Amino acid sequence: MLIRLLNVALSILLAYALQEGRNSQSVDIDGYEQFTNQSLFWAPYRSNCYFGIRPRYVNDHPFMFGLMWMDSTHLEAMNKLRHLVDQNDKLDKYGWEVYDPRIGGKQTILDLDNNVNLTIYYFKSRDGANWGARIRGEPIDSQKLSTTSLVLYMNQNGGRENSHLVRSEPDSYGSENIKLRGLAPEMGEYDISINDLSGLYYSKGAPLHPDLDSSKTAHMSLTVPDDQVWIARDILQTLVGESIQTITSSSNKIDPVSFPSVFTIRNMHDFPPGNFHFIQKTFDLDKPFEFDIIFNNKASKQQIKSSSEFSAMIEWGLNEINNRFDNKFHIQHPEHKKFAQETLSNLMGGIGYFYGTQLVDRTTEFDDEQFEKIELSHPEEEGPLQLFSCVPSRAFFPRGFYWDEGFHLLQVMEYDFDLAFEIMQSWFELIEEDSGWVARELILGNEARSKVPEEFRVQNPNIANPPTLLLAFSEMLSRALAEQDDHNSQGEELNTFPFSTEELERQPDLLIVRAKKIFPKLLKHYDWFTNSQRGMVEEYVDYVDEKVHPMEAFRWIGRTFTHCLPSGMDDYPRAQPPDVAELHVDTLAWVGVMTRSMRKIAAVLSLKEEEEKFAAIEKNVIENLDILHWNPDDNCYCDITIDDESEDVREFVCHQGYISLLPFALKLMTPDSPKLKYLVDLMSDSDKLFTGFGLASLSKQDEYFETGEVYWRGPVWININYLCLDALVYYFQENECTDMETLGKARSLYSSLRENIISNMYRVWAHDGFVYENYNHRTGNGTGVRHFTGWSALVVNIIGRLPEQLY
Ligand SMILES: *[C@@H]1O[C@H](CO)[C@@H](O)[C@H](O)[C@H]1NC(C)=O
Ligand SMILES: *[C@@H]1O[C@H](CO)[C@@H](O)[C@H](O)[C@H]1NC(C)=O
Ligand SMILES: *[C@@H]1O[C@H](CO)[C@@H](O)[C@H](O)[C@H]1NC(C)=O
Repeated sequence: MLIRLLNVALSILLAYALQEGRNSQSVDIDGYEQFTNQSLFWAPYRSNCYFGIRPRYVNDHPFMFGLMWMDSTHLEAMNKLRHLVDQNDKLDKYGWEVYDPRIGGKQTILDLDNNVNLTIYYFKSRDGANWGARIRGEPIDSQKLSTTSLVLYMNQNGGRENSHLVRSEPDSYGSENIKLRGLAPEMGEYDISINDLSGLYYSKGAPLHPDLDSSKTAHMSLTVPDDQVWIARDILQTLVGESIQTITSSSNKIDPVSFPSVFTIRNMHDFPPGNFHFIQKTFDLDKPFEFDIIFNNKASKQQIKSSSEFSAMIEWGLNEINNRFDNKFHIQHPEHKKFAQETLSNLMGGIGYFYGTQLVDRTTEFDDEQFEKIELSHPEEEGPLQLFSCVPSRAFFPRGFYWDEGFHLLQVMEYDFDLAFEIMQSWFELIEEDSGWVARELILGNEARSKVPEEFRVQNPNIANPPTLLLAFSEMLSRALAEQDDHNSQGEELNTFPFSTEELERQPDLLIVRAKKIFPKLLKHYDWFTNSQRGMVEEYVDYVDEKVHPMEAFRWIGRTFTHCLPSGMDDYPRAQPPDVAELHVDTLAWVGVMTRSMRKIAAVLSLKEEEEKFAAIEKNVIENLDILHWNPDDNCYCDITIDDESEDVREFVCHQGYISLLPFALKLMTPDSPKLKYLVDLMSDSDKLFTGFGLASLSKQDEYFETGEVYWRGPVWININYLCLDALVYYFQENECTDMETLGKARSLYSSLRENIISNMYRVWAHDGFVYENYNHRTGNGTGVRHFTGWSALVVNIIGRLPEQLY
């Protein structure tokens, strides 16, 4: 007891000590953390579903909710049953028009094949404990006979004592409004009610069986283990499939008018009730329909008591999110605003919570001399692990990507700084204690694995990826450090919640508590990255320059003849043939970013010695970029490799494009560098990188331009374009440039590049409603994965945060 009291006293003292000398208002650390947990507890975190809900950080027996729908007036209905987001569904539109994970949002779905236009509102009470979903549907073509048969499912396992989910009243056949009550250890008791507001149930054909009545809400309960809830669609297909077989074996011909009856769920095998529930409503699209699903925690004082109360919440929420957006992004053009708001909403609507095992191969040895494709054939299941993260694309990449995530956070942090920090922290927690490694793709559990081709499922601790999270972290730390120096810069507050979404930026003590926790793991990660990717510099030392720093030279481990997947720019041309002694300029640049972050976090934590150590390494990196990688003939940064036949053993491997720009884009050049001028020229040259739609990834004059897969060999990528624009602001506006000619060129490059990206991305979105993985450098049309509101969402910063022009 005494020891516990002492501990409490010590932690209070520590909290005071942290506040002291930091000259900041005191802050309620526990209250802040509680607010964070509550406001981010519920959300559509199953972002791989068109609409799927689960709580965050509940790993054992989480409550799960999902939505499916189909048009049940034809025999192939089940093939077009929508559930997990899938490019092959070819929906004309889907996604969040307005969304904030702390508040809620509005999603629109246009499904032409099923002839339905769905609007889904999802909003939470202010204490984060309760939520409602309103689902509204109307036909796209009102002349066409069709239904929308919606199937909701929900589940709450956990054992009789601790948790359950059951129907409140005994099956009162005929009542369309269904109530369930549940119990879970992390929430206590809760109620769910499903209430119709309008609509017409399908009643055109006679039911084929009393249990197959499409003019009523159907309900079926059974037991499904937690790890199989995600295959609810298969379960439904099996159950309905069996039912159909029984019907067809006993009658020869079914009148098409009764098809909706055939596709109704029924409990043919008399399964005993369980904690899993299917609820099916089949609406006749002669009339629009609308119903609510309302979840109330019994302990909350902010329960949603009625549908009209929920209507008011929807109205308030839409307005609130709109105000928050306007507060952060200043966009005059109303159509551009709509585009930007929707794009940001889709980035945040992709935020998911993942929990499960991952596959790791720790035994396969890499043969450095081979450069053949690496087979990771010894996977072991490890974990489970948990991850809170954005995704590059809900349809195609619904999982965590280390290379993408830093870019996502550069965007999220402009809207909700603390949310970005929370996501980053979740990633950093996954850094392995002893090795310092974190996987480049986090594919947790069977649900996530189901979307990944087998050859890409297994992760390996020798393989790295660009540490973009540290780029975002470095940016966050700069802001927080700047805030400390300048207390007057606080923007306007929106006092909806007890805390703002920028506490970490403004309250040094909150940031310090977190930074302290992160720091040891980051050190490990830094060591892992720099040790595993270190290049062989001895080969060059005698020939290049005695000033070269031997420890600051790197290469990506795991490249093959044709690809360098670890670099993130898969098919960007590299040295041919590959050589163990080649050095990659982008690897070194990324180490520069990591080092800069480490220096800044050391500064935040007042660790003088560490700060100086990292400052020295950072300086070496910056010098080595010039000493090792600058090619004075091509006037750009290049990879290098060994050429035994030449006198100067160093051979430059120059393929002008994103990789040659990276030291510039990552702000690693000194602001007075005379080399800036050459890079501005390279970016401005329309015979090389400049296009009407953004900077092309590879120079039009390069021998590899538009060859092979044409992935990073031409197309315009928004993440790198954003970095280049932001870097132009840094070199030519935030710092003083004395070279007037270059300054003039940089200003004009900036304006036209920014304008080209915005107008092209807007054009494509206005035409078909989607944002793409990349954009064709000749036509500007969207290419690659559709609905890619991962890093392409950085267009929101380009429109709403970056200046219109440099002055
Ligand atoms: C917030 O959630 C995290 C993760 O579940 C937990 O470790 C922490 O204790 C929670 N904090 C508060 C104040 O509830
Ligand atoms: C879909 O429905 C919404 C809500 O009724 C309506 O505003 C929108 O115009 C509809 N869209 C189409 C393409 O029919
Ligand atoms: C680009 O997209 C537009 C609109 O979809 C289309 O009309 C045009 O043919 C496309 N251009 C090319 C070259 O594919």
